[in-house]
Amino acid sequence: MTNQMITARGLTKTFRSKGQTVEAVRSVDLDVVDGELVAFLGPNGAGKSTTLRMLTTLLPPTEGEATVAGCDIRRDPAGVRRRIGYVGQGNSGGHTQRVRDELHAQGSFYGMGRRETRLRAAELIESLELGQSANRTVQSLSGGQKRRLDIALGLIHRPELLFLDEPSTGLDPHSRANLWEHIVDLRRETGTTIFLTTHYLDEADQLAERVMVMDHGAVIADDTAWALKESLAGDRITLEFEGATDAAAAASRIGGEISGRVVTVTARGGDRALPRFIRDLGDAGLEVVAATHRQPTLDDVFLALTGRSLRDEGAHAADATPEPVAV
Ligand SMILES: Nc1ncnc2c1ncn2[C@@H]1O[C@H](COP(=O)(O)OP(=O)(O)O)[C@@H](O)[C@H]1O
Ligand SMILES: [Mg+2]
Repeated sequence: MTNQMITARGLTKTFRSKGQTVEAVRSVDLDVVDGELVAFLGPNGAGKSTTLRMLTTLLPPTEGEATVAGCDIRRDPAGVRRRIGYVGQGNSGGHTQRVRDELHAQGSFYGMGRRETRLRAAELIESLELGQSANRTVQSLSGGQKRRLDIALGLIHRPELLFLDEPSTGLDPHSRANLWEHIVDLRRETGTTIFLTTHYLDEADQLAERVMVMDHGAVIADDTAWALKESLAGDRITLEFEGATDAAAAASRIGGEISGRVVTVTARGGDRALPRFIRDLGDAGLEVVAATHRQPTLDDVFLALTGRSLRDEGAHAADATPEPVAV
């Protein structure tokens, strides 16, 4: 049986600061069931962290309702907090504490007994490969180790649901890949529902089963990465001909853009469309001498939805803007 893990209806947050009104989150509906791994994707300032803060009870919504891990965020915030883990954007406190002590402190924060905390900490140190650093101080860890510690801290009390805000931001590609392996393994081994934000398109594409795209405070797409790409973008096919005349003749039959001897077309189900194009054009006496087929990326999807490329925005923005303080 599947249980509803997150249900949100009309979740809205409006900030008023210095005489200005910012509609950070505008009437967001969410449905996440037990065991899902969902990526909340969007450019910097889209409202991802604000949504997470409302769901984790750190920030009261201006409007709307949500039930998280079976508890109402307004009526039972303590119940929500007991049942969830939350790793905020770029934290990792207790700088001079040792890794193991940090985990023990977190366990007692959640009211866990000494023995239970020690066993659980040892288990997490093992599964997140923190063995080498367990007796080191937090400040001496690498970026990737710190983020793994953050995740261990978020999991110490065995929450049913884990929120991770930009877990991989600021890490080098190798550490990012390693972190994701751990996230995917944890999910597989424990069945924990994971709701995370990222602005890395390739991560969301490869690793999440479900992608929710947020832009300007609203959810503008919600599906599997595959379905989003299939329905919104279409595959890119390039066909190369002997000469520009053939290319022009081909384009007049199948459409697309001509660039010298090459015609580029966008087609749904490109893997099937490609042999059909080659056959039909061949029948018309137009020989395809080379062809490529590229599947769309989530950036193509974002572009199709918004007219903007997330790749251009995400790259520099997300690391530069300081995290707003919770109110
Ligand atoms: N405490 C706050 N006070 C005023 N504006 C805020 C506050 N927190 C966030 N915002 C604004 O709300 C919008 C969404 O921010 P945020 O949720 O952090 O986006 P994301 O996590 O997607 O980058 C941004 O315009 C941001 O500047
Ligand atoms: Mg954020």
